[in-house]
Amino acid sequence: MKEDHFDISLFRSKGYQIIDDLANYLESSYKKYRPVLSLVSPEEEYKFWENYSITDLKSFNTDLIERSISLHHPNYIGHQVSAPLPEIALLGLTSELLNNGMGIYEMGAAGTAIEQNVIRQFCNSIGYDSNSSGFLTSGGTLANLTALLAARSYCLAKHPESSIENLYILVSEQAHFCIERAGITMGLPQTNIVKIAVDDQYRIDTLELHKRANAIIQSGGLIMSVVACACSTATGSYDDIVVLSKISKELDSWLHVDGAHGGAAIFSEKLKSNLLQSVEQADSIIIDAHKMMLTPALCTAVLFKKSENSYISFKQKADYLFDQISQDPNNLAKRTYETTKYMMGIKVYYLFKKLGVKYIGDYIERQTDLTLQLFDLINDSPNFEVAHRPMSNILCFRYWIKDATDEKLNRINQTIRNTIIDSGKFYIVSTWLNDIYYLRVTIMNVLTTIKDVKSMIHEIEEIAIRTSC
Ligand SMILES: Cc1ncc(COP(=O)(O)O)c(C=O)c1O
Repeated sequence: MKEDHFDISLFRSKGYQIIDDLANYLESSYKKYRPVLSLVSPEEEYKFWENYSITDLKSFNTDLIERSISLHHPNYIGHQVSAPLPEIALLGLTSELLNNGMGIYEMGAAGTAIEQNVIRQFCNSIGYDSNSSGFLTSGGTLANLTALLAARSYCLAKHPESSIENLYILVSEQAHFCIERAGITMGLPQTNIVKIAVDDQYRIDTLELHKRANAIIQSGGLIMSVVACACSTATGSYDDIVVLSKISKELDSWLHVDGAHGGAAIFSEKLKSNLLQSVEQADSIIIDAHKMMLTPALCTAVLFKKSENSYISFKQKADYLFDQISQDPNNLAKRTYETTKYMMGIKVYYLFKKLGVKYIGDYIERQTDLTLQLFDLINDSPNFEVAHRPMSNILCFRYWIKDATDEKLNRINQTIRNTIIDSGKFYIVSTWLNDIYYLRVTIMNVLTTIKDVKSMIHEIEEIAIRTSC
């Protein structure tokens, strides 16, 4: 007999199987019974799936899990994607099955109200007043574009005589590439996204920024936006928002904070006062919940100091969806770039209401402290060199040999990274800073301990010796 794919009892029994599978995945990850990843070549992976036939949901799900990187493994110390809280991930199933479109209120009443509630908490924690607002969108890349589109509309409304070719964005050379991509997408010439040099801790050089801004203005340009990194991607460095907000005011430009990774530090009083002072002065800020808020991807808050600025980018007419009322917080597609979106707010809402914002703050403090412990561990070692003192949970360092050239050290560290990935024991990443190849770690996982970090260092030393580096 053919299966009825809408049958409820089948859904129930398959659901239990999937949960069992996922619980087994968590157990084998937590206990390190499985590798972090078992990477094969793209050709081999494509071939596997090309020749694959699905017998049932459970075995397909099992193969998916086995062939995927495990972010819940304590030795996952790589990119800035969260190892989500398992109970929060369960809510993803509800969102997917309900499939409320969220573009308009009727297509997601609970989701819309919940999203507004979540946005209020973000705004309060930033220190914005009740005139602020925002929305959730699909990732930091889109969020930065959306905020900068508002900056562009704001700037052109204030200077109607100006044109897009005349607008400039000033940002650290260490900013995420999506800032430049956003500028180009909105029609700015690539050279108008001006990359400012950084200091020895990879924070934007504010004197240089000031100088470049004045030169642009003198030659007739307009500073559309100053963008602060909070923090930068490669080294996790926080730009000085106090100084940047003063400069932005002086230039009469829009201050945008890219807090995709580090913006969630607003939930720790200690970190906020150390790293995000004056963040409430920013015209806009974005924060990825799927980075430092233990939430599955994608979920990014786009927050505006002045609510009216969250409406200025998009003014399309859509008779089948909503009317032309200019400011309408309930029909989210009036402000988001996307129309249909999943019930993004529910996971963050659960996090805020059930666990509390302090839980997030404590988590970020813990990860930052652990990264500092790693820094202390290798800073004095003759076998390592660190690129910077960590301001967040990101650290760049390299295996180091006295008298070896940078060229040789680059080769050695590349071998180390490739070997460690092939072994499946640890997942660490890399970056180039001033033509030097660094190993790069982001300690995302709550399960990662100092013991795991020490064994990673030990593993790196072993590989260096074994491969006769
Ligand atoms: C500082 C910063 N901004 C933006 C992004 C892009 O965010 P997403 O990957 O959510 O699009 C990243 C991603 O790593 C980031 O580190």
